[in-house]
Amino acid sequence: MQTEPLTLDPFCYSEKFHRFITTLSEENFVISFDWVSWQNEANRFITYPELLTLADISTLQKLLTTHVRKERFCSGYMANMIENGHFLAILKRLQVIRTNIILEKTDISDESNMMQQIEIIQGDITQLQVDAIVNAANSSLLGGGGVDGAIHRAAGRELLEECRQLRRCETGEAKITKGYNLPAKWVIHTVGPVWKGGNYGEDELLASCYRHSLTLAEQYQIKTIAFPAISTGVYGFPMERASKIAIAEVHQFLHDHNSPEQVIFVCFGQSAYDCYLRVMQEFTEK
Ligand code: APR
Repeated sequence: MQTEPLTLDPFCYSEKFHRFITTLSEENFVISFDWVSWQNEANRFITYPELLTLADISTLQKLLTTHVRKERFCSGYMANMIENGHFLAILKRLQVIRTNIILEKTDISDESNMMQQIEIIQGDITQLQVDAIVNAANSSLLGGGGVDGAIHRAAGRELLEECRQLRRCETGEAKITKGYNLPAKWVIHTVGPVWKGGNYGEDELLASCYRHSLTLAEQYQIKTIAFPAISTGVYGFPMERASKIAIAEVHQFLHDHNSPEQVIFVCFGQSAYDCYLRVMQEFTEK
């Protein structure tokens, strides 16, 4: 298993890179797909290369395949991507994915396998190309600021129309709509608790948001789901305390169920990201 960090010399490939690409090819990471429709999708990455770090597994495999097969699209563009380091981002994510597959094959303990299903990234959840993103909504479900506002802006008016039909959503519960103009197919709206000092059941209500969202994901056969840090913005829930609840609840759900396959915590800003990484590290060392 490739363990040392991947490096890329500009315009040419390090030996490690070549070996890794060959390994991926041998392990069926090179896939067949509809090249024509893929080209439009792939062009997004020319305009917004930062999307590569948020792309889902099958997109990463398509990018790798175009590279390995030296497809027309790949030549100039891929050399450019390699030069600016974006391709390294793809390879690092493929490295994590390949490790997951090897862990599954070699039947490493469920525990570490489960932890491999959880990913922590920094970014804008509205850009994520996953089956479902979770919205930190309010009980009216009629939009608001923060991530709620960002999701409604990105999804477009139809989202609000569907939310209207859902009527309300109680704190700690979750409801699902389509994703409309978002890259994600679904939006799971959940209403987190407002922080009132910690003695009004806030912890349990926040835990319930994650459980209800994951239960909906399982019902809708959602394989990849992304969560923002629910309640830690306008609702004032302390980030560290909220991240501990989020990681513990997701870990427990993945232990007790077979889906979703991948849960991504999307942190908005460096301090949130550092907090989630630290809490995740402590959780795995317990
Ligand atoms: N992508 C990912 N995370 C985001 C994004 C984004 N585009 N925008 C904000 N966040 C983060 C915030 O930094 C915070 O860590 O989401 C977390 C939740 O913050 P809020 O969006 O303020 O949600 P919350 O604290 O749950 O308050 C919900 O705010 O927007 C209103 O209508 C919403 O009334 C509801 C309340």
